[in-house]
Amino acid sequence: LLISFLWFSIFQAWPDDLLISTYPKSGTTWVAEIMEMIYQDGNLEKCQRAPTYERVPILELKWPGLSTETPAPRLIRTHLQLALLPQSFLDQKVKVIYVARNAKDVAVSYYNFYKMAKGHPEPGTWDNFLEKFMDGQVSFGSWYQHVQKWGELDGPINLLYLFYEDLKENRKREIRKILEFLGRSLSEEMVDHIVQHTSFKEMKKNPMANYTTIPIEIMDQNISPFMRKGIVGDWKSVFTVAQNEHFDAHYAKKMAGCKLKFRWQL
Ligand code: A3P
Repeated sequence: LLISFLWFSIFQAWPDDLLISTYPKSGTTWVAEIMEMIYQDGNLEKCQRAPTYERVPILELKWPGLSTETPAPRLIRTHLQLALLPQSFLDQKVKVIYVARNAKDVAVSYYNFYKMAKGHPEPGTWDNFLEKFMDGQVSFGSWYQHVQKWGELDGPINLLYLFYEDLKENRKREIRKILEFLGRSLSEEMVDHIVQHTSFKEMKKNPMANYTTIPIEIMDQNISPFMRKGIVGDWKSVFTVAQNEHFDAHYAKKMAGCKLKFRWQL
């Protein structure tokens, strides 16, 4: 952890970097793949050259042997809270694509991830984990703070705020938004090609996107696959009525005054 911290605190952003920022389990890998397809002009072979976490390195994560040297223009991802973002991203006015997902689906996805990704402490029961999530006592801290602070970011950097639910509803429309934000244009066929390659089904079977390149001792996909369900509203099969009421009351307090509108189902 200390090494990771030292690494990202000395990280130097370049003006043509593109940062994908998310709270964990909000569609990071998905948008990373969409961005890679755009940057590689839809060339599937190029997008298969390395696992997702090497093609779009995680700012705060580095381990021996991990190749994170990508040529400019770089795609970089982060889960850091805005306050921890290295200042050079702001100084260089780096473009940021933020992806947010509704808190209930994030909590469910995160619980399953905690169980399979062994770097995390044992999450305990779902009920315990949900309390910790609501308290922000999980890796990368409070979801409520993350989505709000990044959302308030205007002025110093260029930010496109996307929602997982919108991507599920209409990926093509969201890809067009991204292209406009990047000031790029692609043919209709190319956009369709990217839409097709970044479906849940395609990404689940893509070894360069589905994290199966990570050893089982670190991520045990028999416990829960990284590409788990990929839907909106899975929380309904997990939350009890009491948990849902408790969550909603807490949510209303934490999100009071916030203009962001999350969709719990499509
Ligand atoms: P679930 O656990 O709900 O299935 P992240 O990449 O930020 O860690 O997010 C992982 C979540 O995004 C997982 O959610 C995963 O299944 C989902 N996901 C990944 N690729 C997806 C895709 N192409 N379509 C829909 N969901 C996707």
